[in-house]
Amino acid sequence: MKLIIAANWKMHKTAAATAAFCQALRRDEALFEGVEVLVCPPFTSLPAAAAGLEGSAIKIGAQNMHWAEQGAYTGEIAASMLLEYGASFVIIGHSERRHLMGETDQQVNLKLKAALASGLQPILCLGETENERKQGQTTAVIKKQLTAALEGLAAKDLVNLTVAYEPVWAIGTGQAASTDDAEDAAALVYRLATEQFGAESAKRLRVQYGGSVKAENIGSYMALPSVSGALVGGASLEAESFSALIQAARKAVLH
Ligand code: PGA
Repeated sequence: MKLIIAANWKMHKTAAATAAFCQALRRDEALFEGVEVLVCPPFTSLPAAAAGLEGSAIKIGAQNMHWAEQGAYTGEIAASMLLEYGASFVIIGHSERRHLMGETDQQVNLKLKAALASGLQPILCLGETENERKQGQTTAVIKKQLTAALEGLAAKDLVNLTVAYEPVWAIGTGQAASTDDAEDAAALVYRLATEQFGAESAKRLRVQYGGSVKAENIGSYMALPSVSGALVGGASLEAESFSALIQAARKAVLH
C-alpha cells in the first residue's frame, strides 16, 4: 500500500514561512517517489501552500473543518472553502481538538461524513491518553472512537479514508509508542473496519502512526504490516528534517 506521510504544522507558519518551506521541500521531491506526501498548514497559509506547491505532487491538507456547508458558525470553516484553496485532505479529530477544544466523537463523525461528501480525504485521528493506557483501556478507547467516527459511512468511503493512530501521551513528548503498540492499534483498526464493512473494503483503508515520529524512528513503523504512513508534527516543521523523514520511510519499505 502506498505510504502517506503528512505534515501537521498545527499553529505554526505564516504564509511567508509556508512559501519558504514549500520551496525548500520541492527541491527534494524526486527523492519522494512512491510516497504520498502532504502538508497541513494553518488555514491562512493554505493559499501560500497552494501557490508554493503548484505543479508538484505534494498535496495539501487542512487541520480541521466544520460539518455544515455554510451558516452561522463564527470562527469555523467549511469544506468548500478548503477545497477552494487547494486542500485535498483534512485532519479530523486530532487529539488537541478533542482534548483542548472539547471535540466529541459525534462531532468527529459529522465532520468525517461532511468531508467525504465534499470530496476531501479525511485523516481521522484517534488514540488513548496516558491514563487510559495505564488503566488498560487502550483497546476500548480505540474501539469507541473508531466505531463512533465510522457510524453511517459506506464501504466505498474507506478508499478515501486514512486513520491516524496517535496515542495522546506520544504526541510532542519525544516518547514514541513501541512498534508493537503501533502495530496492535493499527491491526485493531483493520479488524474493526473489517467487521463493519467487510475485508475487501477494509483493506483499502490506510493507517498511519503518529506521535514523536522523526527520521530516526520512522523506518521501524513503516516496516510494520498494518502501518502505511505517518502523521508528523514537530519533525515536519523544517523542510530538511521532513525531507529526511520521508526518505527514511521510503527506504524502509523498499528494502
Ligand atoms: P508530534 O505530533 O510528531 O510532534 O508528536 C504529531 C501530531 O500531533 O500529529
